Amino acid sequence: MSQPNYKYVPKQVDEIVIRAFAFEFADDIDPLWVPNNPVRSHMFNGLSLTMPYLEPYLIKSTQKAMAFIDEPELLSDMRGFNGQEARHYQCHRRLNELLKSNGYPELANVERRMAASFERLSNRSLRTQLAYNAGFETMTNGFTHWLINKRHKLFHNASPHITSFWLMHMVEETEHKTVAFDAYMAYSGKYLPRAIGVFHGSFHLVGWGLIGMWTALKKDRALRNPRNVMGLVREISALLFNVGPYLLRALLPWHNPRCEDDPKWMLDWVAGHAKWPAGEVLPLVDTSSHDMPVPFRTNG
Ligand SMILES: [Fe+2]
Ligand SMILES: [Fe+2]
Repeated sequence: MSQPNYKYVPKQVDEIVIRAFAFEFADDIDPLWVPNNPVRSHMFNGLSLTMPYLEPYLIKSTQKAMAFIDEPELLSDMRGFNGQEARHYQCHRRLNELLKSNGYPELANVERRMAASFERLSNRSLRTQLAYNAGFETMTNGFTHWLINKRHKLFHNASPHITSFWLMHMVEETEHKTVAFDAYMAYSGKYLPRAIGVFHGSFHLVGWGLIGMWTALKKDRALRNPRNVMGLVREISALLFNVGPYLLRALLPWHNPRCEDDPKWMLDWVAGHAKWPAGEVLPLVDTSSHDMPVPFRTNG
């Protein structure tokens, strides 16, 4: 049974669409895919490394929660959430294998340690897990706005494949941004564990991402170059500056992800994708263009 005072409120999107992540990554993909920026490349590679551990865990805990929820619309959202997260981690896993085989086999050791950490997390109480999920997804919403709204600054001339993949992932994160929060509210709704979850979900995940980044930077001996040290400070500051406000707002007792708007680019992407023939390889974002428009023709 859902919490007696829980009531489902419609989300901003009509539907959580489960889409195929049809990207063809080259076998010899360059792990340094953001030009002249090894720190940013490895930061996103480190975050990518976490996804095949985080997202299966999110799915399992969401499935466990479904047994306690009787709201049909929320249950349908949870199924959509699980379907999207499953496609995300499968595509991240393909990319991560290529990152390892193209110069960074050391990342396998980080993966082993991460697997154990998520195993421990999945043995915590369901309330702790759902609070973690809600907290993590709050942070993701900050990432979505950062990556989508500042895509040109972050990914100008970067690999169109990896950029398009990250942006598509962020579009879907916006689409399902209410689900983990709703699942927590329907299961428990208590404020304090949710507030702790904001920190737990964000710092645990980003921490592992930064360990992945550090491992690759160490391999490259990149931090012997003062420019890269400055780059590291800049990237982490940008992350805190762009994502931090979302975490602070999530700490408000009346927080609801429905209060956060959706970027227009995301809405255009969703509309464009709806007309794209099913089963076809996805078009790529033109990272050399000034405003990096959605890769679909939106006028029909
Ligand atoms: Fe995801
Ligand atoms: Fe998500």
